[in-house]
Amino acid sequence: MASFKTLNSVDLAGKRVLVRVDFNVPLDGDTITDNTRITAALPTIRHILEQKGKVILMSHLGRPKGQPNPKYSLRPVATELAKLLERPVGFVSDCAGPEAAAAVSALGEGGVLLLENVRFHAGEEKNDPELAARLAALGDLYVNDAFGSAHRAHASTAGVTEKLRPAVAGFLMEKELKFLGEETAHPKRPFVVILGGAKVSDKINVINRLLEKADTILIGGAMAYTFALAKGGKIGDSLSEPDKVEVAKAALEKAEKRGVKFLLPVDNQITDKLDFDNLAVGELKTVAAADGIPDGWEGVDIGPETIQLFSKEVAGAATILWNGPMGIFEIKACSEGTFAIAEAVAANPNAVSIIGGGDSVKAVNRAGVADKVSFISTGGGASLEFLEGKELPGVTALDPA
Ligand code: 3PG
Repeated sequence: MASFKTLNSVDLAGKRVLVRVDFNVPLDGDTITDNTRITAALPTIRHILEQKGKVILMSHLGRPKGQPNPKYSLRPVATELAKLLERPVGFVSDCAGPEAAAAVSALGEGGVLLLENVRFHAGEEKNDPELAARLAALGDLYVNDAFGSAHRAHASTAGVTEKLRPAVAGFLMEKELKFLGEETAHPKRPFVVILGGAKVSDKINVINRLLEKADTILIGGAMAYTFALAKGGKIGDSLSEPDKVEVAKAALEKAEKRGVKFLLPVDNQITDKLDFDNLAVGELKTVAAADGIPDGWEGVDIGPETIQLFSKEVAGAATILWNGPMGIFEIKACSEGTFAIAEAVAANPNAVSIIGGGDSVKAVNRAGVADKVSFISTGGGASLEFLEGKELPGVTALDPA
């Protein structure tokens, strides 16, 4: 993997530092329900302030389709950031107009500004050179700390670097690339990968890529039922992708050829009724995978024997990568498998443990073990694309080291 210039290599004193962050946080009205992405950017922001630079932050929030929309305003983020930094954070209601230019000119040493949602301009997602030039004019140098948006070739992640150099990686970006990149490309062995979630189609490229790196792959979530079909199993009414059975078969063959241990659940928690609206289930029971899931029943979690089997693999790992829940963990009765994996990962302090994907991150946080894992990725789609081995435009746009 190529390496890129980072924040430590540039002189920041007195400079206007234009920083792309990913403050695409979940909101309930004006309330931020999870501030992880904001806290993750604090080391970069604090470092610039310590080095006497001026911080100009830009981000997107949601998908406002190129139009201003108060529902997607970053204003609540400015308030939260000010609390976290314990200093005022100025807010500019248009990221690229005269108001932004004036606010930046008035910014003193130690000043922090957050610009309004870059996606309020249609030019952002089109990587429009004119918008990129207007953003670039706000800074003396550019820092990209928005790993979560690095798979987007947008004006604030890619185009801006055509007009503004140096363009360097922030500390969060650097950490994401280290853990998801180097630690999984040259892992300490055994390297155990746990993949869950609903769809094989979402993860097949990651599976294929990791089949070239991992020693063991553990599969949970509804994705496992498509693999069960590929092995001729009976899955009752479980969620599956029958059109992906061939793809699953090919992955199983590849695993065998490469000598990768590829483990599916040996038992499943099943129910005769799933009520998502009320987060409830009907009767629950455990069945062995070998016996299959009867019609009228569907799998909702891995079973106790699978928990043991997977936990044992995790306990013996030197590198662990986990992406995706083992069951419908939003429903308490179906959450045991996912939380057990979170506990198992946390119980192996000697391993490099990397957690990616919103749901596994939530599980680790809810299990209260976030401080016991090596790294929690802030990327969703970006993490997956990176693990697939794709180049991320927001990264390739940076200055080479
Ligand atoms: C994310 O939440 O994955 C990133 O912020 C990217 O958002 P997007 O999928 O709307 O580009």
